[in-house]
Amino acid sequence: MEIKLVIHNLKEMEALAMQIAKRLFPGFILGLGGDLGSGKTTFTKYLAKHIGIEATINSPTFTILKIYQNSLPLYHMDVYRLENIGYDYELDEFIYGDGVAVIEWYEYIISMLPKAMMTMNIKVMSETAREITIKGSDAYAAIVKDLSH
Ligand SMILES: Nc1ncnc2c1ncn2[C@@H]1O[C@H](COP(=O)(O)OP(=O)(O)OP(=O)(O)O)[C@@H](O)[C@H]1O
Ligand SMILES: [Mg+2]
Repeated sequence: MEIKLVIHNLKEMEALAMQIAKRLFPGFILGLGGDLGSGKTTFTKYLAKHIGIEATINSPTFTILKIYQNSLPLYHMDVYRLENIGYDYELDEFIYGDGVAVIEWYEYIISMLPKAMMTMNIKVMSETAREITIKGSDAYAAIVKDLSH
């Protein structure tokens, strides 16, 4: 299942994050792709807010993984630094964990990710507008479909 959405501003980005936050479950895997500065971390901040995480979400670029304990834990990864390595097996327990795994630059570790996941690729259209392509494997198809209206 694949859909494309156009988001015009931060407010609409937050609205999308809120819609996705409602549909998360333990073990949910969300890969975020798109150019530098397209909004992957910004989206993750909104997602965290709407699952009830109060801590400030910063880009985990220099740590690769940040863990936010919560009724539904959030494992926020940014694997940009793994571009030429392609994997980091220490991330496995979080990718296949009991929280929500959000992985910025997921393409860089695609070989260690399962087929069953959802991805969002964010394309910059203007200073505040973004085109977002959301894809989901069978287990996520109903969620992706719900996001289209
Ligand atoms: N509609 C929008 N959605 C998301 N971010 C937006 C939007 N409009 C403007 N922005 C701005 O674009 C920037 C996105 O930066 P952000 O750090 O979230 O990108 P990123 O994709 O995580 O970058 P990186 O590849 O470096 O990790 C922020 O300054 C944010 O305020
Ligand atoms: Mg980022």
